[in-house]
Amino acid sequence: MDKTEAKQRIEKLKEWLKKWNYEYFVLDRNDISEAARDKIKKELHELEDQFPEFVTPDSPTQRVGSVLSGKFAKIKHLRPKQSLMDCFSNEELEDWEERNQKLVPGEKLDYITEYKLDGLNLSVIYEKGKFHRAITRGDGVYGEDVTHSVRTIPSVPLELREIRGLKLKDYPVIEASGEVIMTIKSFEDLNKREGQVFANPRNAAAGTVRQLDPKVSADRKLDMYFYSIYFEKNSVIPYPESQKEALKLLQDLGLRVNTNFTHHSSLASVEKAMSEVEKKRAKLPYHIDGLVVKVNSRRHQNLLGSTAKAPRWAIAFKFPAEQSTSKVLDIDIQVGRTGALTPVAILEPTLVAGSTVSRATLHNEDEIERKDVRIGDTVIIQKAGDIIPEVMEVLKDLRNGKEKKFKMPKSCPVCGGPIGRPEGEVVSRCKNKNCYAVHQQQLEHFVSRKAFDIDGLGEKVVEQLIENKLIEDAADLFSLQASDLLQLELFKDKKTENLLEALEKSKVILLPRFIFAMGIRHVGEETAELLADHLDLKTKTITLKKSQKKNQLSLFAEESAEEKVEVAEIPELQSALKKLTVDELNGIEGIGEKVAQSIYEWIQDEKNEAYLDKFDRAGVKLLVPAAKKSTKLAGLTFVITGTLPSLSRDQAKELIKQNGGKASSSVSKKTDYVLAGSEPGSKYDDAQKLGVAIIDEKKFLKMINK
Ligand code: IVH
Repeated sequence: MDKTEAKQRIEKLKEWLKKWNYEYFVLDRNDISEAARDKIKKELHELEDQFPEFVTPDSPTQRVGSVLSGKFAKIKHLRPKQSLMDCFSNEELEDWEERNQKLVPGEKLDYITEYKLDGLNLSVIYEKGKFHRAITRGDGVYGEDVTHSVRTIPSVPLELREIRGLKLKDYPVIEASGEVIMTIKSFEDLNKREGQVFANPRNAAAGTVRQLDPKVSADRKLDMYFYSIYFEKNSVIPYPESQKEALKLLQDLGLRVNTNFTHHSSLASVEKAMSEVEKKRAKLPYHIDGLVVKVNSRRHQNLLGSTAKAPRWAIAFKFPAEQSTSKVLDIDIQVGRTGALTPVAILEPTLVAGSTVSRATLHNEDEIERKDVRIGDTVIIQKAGDIIPEVMEVLKDLRNGKEKKFKMPKSCPVCGGPIGRPEGEVVSRCKNKNCYAVHQQQLEHFVSRKAFDIDGLGEKVVEQLIENKLIEDAADLFSLQASDLLQLELFKDKKTENLLEALEKSKVILLPRFIFAMGIRHVGEETAELLADHLDLKTKTITLKKSQKKNQLSLFAEESAEEKVEVAEIPELQSALKKLTVDELNGIEGIGEKVAQSIYEWIQDEKNEAYLDKFDRAGVKLLVPAAKKSTKLAGLTFVITGTLPSLSRDQAKELIKQNGGKASSSVSKKTDYVLAGSEPGSKYDDAQKLGVAIIDEKKFLKMINK
């Protein structure tokens, strides 16, 4: 075969294989046998070996690349990845609809239900229609770059299909998200081959995606089903107006969706679907843990919006929790990060819902009393979703009289300090602010992945640092010297050097991460993000060298050697925090009264003022993403009309942009909101005609928490 013939043949074989893949994975058709496909693939392989100049990255033979060295790069998601609310019963589902209905009075909601696949969420980015990269969910803002292993998944196409006569090169950047799963069969094969490495298919899928060697990933057989798509609204591809259209578009583009989705015009129909799928569940080739119920219309979805954590328009309707019995061997007290003492039942290890449970929470003293749990009792334990296992009930008939009652200790089991239980509260706390355990856990929280993310500072090292009195609090970490570290067990020159370097690098930190790291009671990642967005800190520009950049900064260009970034000094943060009142905090959407109170108390505590001073002296700087301050309006298009009470048009536009939204000049079906002031123009009428939501300045400011 000469070169020209070879080239043509290679093209033909590739086309054919792409078509086969689409028919097999997306259309679920099996017209041609796998044996025939393998033969074609072999021929392609051989030809490409002979004529390597014709190998292209999108060839089906090019799925397995080389082994990745070291860690995964962290990549910022195009828009933050949310999670889903859970519910476990028809009542809870109906409550959800009722809450939603209040936000969209008079609108008839319709729903799509999809299987809730038990795998891991993954985003695949296509640029100009070509597979570009794959990112895990990570912390929702940053994910891990797992392109190399996802490339090996046969149901993830390396190239999209051309639709509506469009050319791939004109396609916008497309983010297609879905679930990577391992079938039960592949999981069992894997366990047979490699021994019992993973507890269940989900862990196996997650472990395989995070494999450094793509050959291993390819051998372990993963599958992917897509369920969401996202791209710039004003592109050549019309944006889907509903979840149903989104699923259709995914399929048209050649992305496999799980075809067990159904459309429902009422919740009663959703409930019926749930009871049917419960019966089918055991026969499916993969694990599912319920249904995801999604409000179908995108207009409704936009009107409903999101809470801090999850969209209001979707909910995970999960199968009832799984139960089992076990024996209470002992009752332990766990001292939490905020000093809370939680009694924990130490159980005879028992398998529940696919994983071994050996501890279950007893919540608090009153709960133990109410359920009358005693050491030696046989109990029913329950595990629901990702929730910590719970002791539900004691089987009192099985008692033999030797069971022992539990008494809450009078002093902290860790530091011996006094314990207090405020009037009207159920939780007891260690009152010693220097309690070792509290301390230790606060420090562990501080260095953890979602906070300062300091490599080489695990539990053991933190423990040693405290024991040797080298640090008292997290801020002291930054004044550690080589000579301090070298006294510690297992610390040699290299390890010392690495840790000091990691500490130095982590000094420039994203503002929300810093807030999260403070370990303020009730302030999780999302709340930290909300608070950070709300603060308007004065910043200055500094230049960060690539060598100074820590993982979490990869947002600022991955390729360039240095990057200009906006940072704020700690005193800026201190004065902004000091100005906050409980009311203002409570007014931030997503922050409730209890949380507002807790943040306020933290700020007012003098000790924390001194704590923040220490960070300032250590040279910690807070990174405030410059262009986009938040993604609250990501994916939303606004049109402004009329005179707004306080904002100029430019200010309003700037706010839209800063929050990740888009300001457009004319109203169309693609417009999400018309922001109207007094004496609005024809745009107001257009909005009414097209059924586009009209909002005033107050509502708009609320959307961005101003
Ligand atoms: S939609 C806003 N659809 O469930 C998040 N999620 O508990 C969009 N999952 O992180 C998720 N099947 O990993 C959606 N058909 C489905 C799903 C699904 C499984 C997972 C997903 C998500 C988790 C939330």
